[in-house]
Amino acid sequence: MIVGVPKEIYPKERRVALVPAVIPNLKKAGLDVVVEAAAGIGAGYPDAEYAEKGARLAANRAEVFQTADIVAQFLCHGANDKTGSTDLPLMRKGQVVLGFVRPLGTVKTLQEIAERGVMAFSVELMPRTTRAQSMDALSSMATICGYKAVVLAADTLPRIFPMLTTAAGTITPARVLIIGAGVAGLQAIATARRLGGVASAYDMRPAAKEQVQSLGGRFVELPIEAKDAQDARGYGKAQDETFYQKQRELLGKTVAESDVVVTAAVIPGKKSPVLVTKDMVAKMAPGSVIVDLAAERGGNCELTKPDEIVVEHDVTIIGEFNLAAAVPYHASALYGRNVSAFLQHLVKEGKLNLDMKDEIIRETLVTQDGEIVNARVREFFGLPALAVKV
Ligand SMILES: NC(=O)c1ccc[n+]([C@@H]2O[C@H](COP(=O)([O-])OP(=O)(O)OC[C@H]3O[C@@H](n4cnc5c(N)ncnc54)[C@H](O)[C@@H]3O)[C@@H](O)[C@H]2O)c1
Repeated sequence: MIVGVPKEIYPKERRVALVPAVIPNLKKAGLDVVVEAAAGIGAGYPDAEYAEKGARLAANRAEVFQTADIVAQFLCHGANDKTGSTDLPLMRKGQVVLGFVRPLGTVKTLQEIAERGVMAFSVELMPRTTRAQSMDALSSMATICGYKAVVLAADTLPRIFPMLTTAAGTITPARVLIIGAGVAGLQAIATARRLGGVASAYDMRPAAKEQVQSLGGRFVELPIEAKDAQDARGYGKAQDETFYQKQRELLGKTVAESDVVVTAAVIPGKKSPVLVTKDMVAKMAPGSVIVDLAAERGGNCELTKPDEIVVEHDVTIIGEFNLAAAVPYHASALYGRNVSAFLQHLVKEGKLNLDMKDEIIRETLVTQDGEIVNARVREFFGLPALAVKV
């Protein structure tokens, strides 16, 4: 089977879905790789490196889609909501398309993909099991985002992070608050600590406390308890407005005392809760920085502007989308390994192995034979359940 890697076409996207290092393993698994010329260049992987590892280079995108049994992308149509639709006419019936699909985004894009007759696999729907861990692209990207959020904040803050004792006086360390201690939040804690900042974090899931503490962060305890804070997949569950209101009241003082706030409290498929209001921002010291990792879903901060950096009440609020794309070399390296593991799971002895009893296959397959087939996605969009094929 042939895996095709087109160049990413989202504006300014520099990442690439497969890196040269994973090609030998794919070849061992019976997969040949075709890469569009210059697909990896923006991430620091020149064509020559792909060729050296045994990939064939294709002159253009159409050739990749024409040749490939499986097309591996970062942002497929759906996740690429700007230029992704240009791939639709290139898709071939029976072809596999794999990558970020934004399965809980809009049903129209999923239907458009389904109508092309392709089998689309969404990496966002990867189950959170030990077996699937090597294929968990969401965690890979969240790790990079958490790191980059703190590096950006450190670069913007008019203070330095570490405590310094010098002949010219003592400098106190930067106080960094992380709201939402999932994968991104935990990486933000680790990065803030490495830079010498004092990190504290809050999450509504009680299980997060131990993880925050194990990274040397202080866990902010609030005297409220979320109802069913966590779903079966380990994701936070949406709460009602009364709960969020209480959270805002209780978080006010801690936010005001922080130099940097990184917000990463997201709920899959839902608008993110507002946890930092404009009044809370106004009480922060001038020069403080907020990095809102939830910006793409409406933001955790009331003053966040989608995909922009704004200054309000002398506080810089960074709402840029997709920070992982700003670290293309390592984002591609991690994603490439996730995709490679996924491909080796999908293909057995050179053939597609669509074992629907396997939860990794069943839960990530979104479209097949012209239909949206994923049970979770159908339920999310209120589509009737499909009859089980026997
Ligand atoms: N394979 C695996 O077992 C696996 C893989 C990935 C993540 N995880 C775990 O799953 C958990 C969630 O990680 P994630 O990165 O997917 O999270 P996420 O990106 O879905 O959400 C970020 C965090 O925000 C928190 N949050 C949401 N609303 C909030 C609110 N109103 N107030 C405070 N916090 C709020 C959530 O509890 C979550 O921890 C973590 O414990 C992570 O370690 C496990």
